[in-house]
Amino acid sequence: MGILKPTTNNQQPTTAPAGRPYTLDIVTIFPGIIESHLSESLIKRARERGLLVVGLHDLRDYTEDRHRTVDDAPYGGGAGMVMKAPPFFAVVDAVTALRGSKPHTIMVTPQGQTFSQKRAQELAGMDGLLILCGHYEGVDERVRTTLADEEVSLGDYVLMGGEVAAMVMIEAISRLLPGVLGATEAHKEESHYAGLLEYPHYTRPAEYRGLGVPEVLLSGNHGLIELWRRREMLRRTMQRRPELLLKADLTDDDKAVMCELMKEKKAKANNE
Ligand code: ADE
Repeated sequence: MGILKPTTNNQQPTTAPAGRPYTLDIVTIFPGIIESHLSESLIKRARERGLLVVGLHDLRDYTEDRHRTVDDAPYGGGAGMVMKAPPFFAVVDAVTALRGSKPHTIMVTPQGQTFSQKRAQELAGMDGLLILCGHYEGVDERVRTTLADEEVSLGDYVLMGGEVAAMVMIEAISRLLPGVLGATEAHKEESHYAGLLEYPHYTRPAEYRGLGVPEVLLSGNHGLIELWRRREMLRRTMQRRPELLLKADLTDDDKAVMCELMKEKKAKANNE
């Protein structure tokens, strides 16, 4: 696990980070699944630049028996295995010592609160995070009640383990950390896009297999392009996720455009 040894950040930062880096500690029995995700693309760059410090901890390193056992049969009988509490307690102690205090600790489990962009934003505002990934039939209840500050689920389906859920959270949180995205992207995130779905994107060629590009995007008229984009964002959100509009920041112009779009839709329906 060389490059993600929890005590180092692998490469030296290439630029000095503005504030303290975000520390992300992940506990798993399959560190290899997560390692590749942390070593590519934007997350890799954020680590190289010292914006993000990652510790990937193999739960088996915190077992005390020769076989590095992380699970056992359930008390009370029944099928399946349960992940044992002691290795989790030992790794949380080690991470607490490493970071100076116990980070906010999340257990990923289908029984948790559903993850959302809002929660990603809140978690990105903390100093760091410790994510515990479970497996098998479940995890000893004492891990949940004693070590976890919060339980998070990706959605109402059951995965084989928490690793993919942890990666989703890591990605959603990392891209919100200051400096991780380029200035343009971050700006879009903060202002324009908030609460609405994105407008359609196009790039060259202008025509491909008979498929064109909306004329306005080729016009060079930036004012018209902005209006078109905002209109398409509203159209998409109305069509696909109308409930988002209740919380979105809408201007009077937006509301006027929405009235037009509704009229357009009615007219279209009447013609069909
Ligand atoms: N582990 C298994 N299923 C999960 C889910 N839906 N969300 C988070 N962790 C999980």
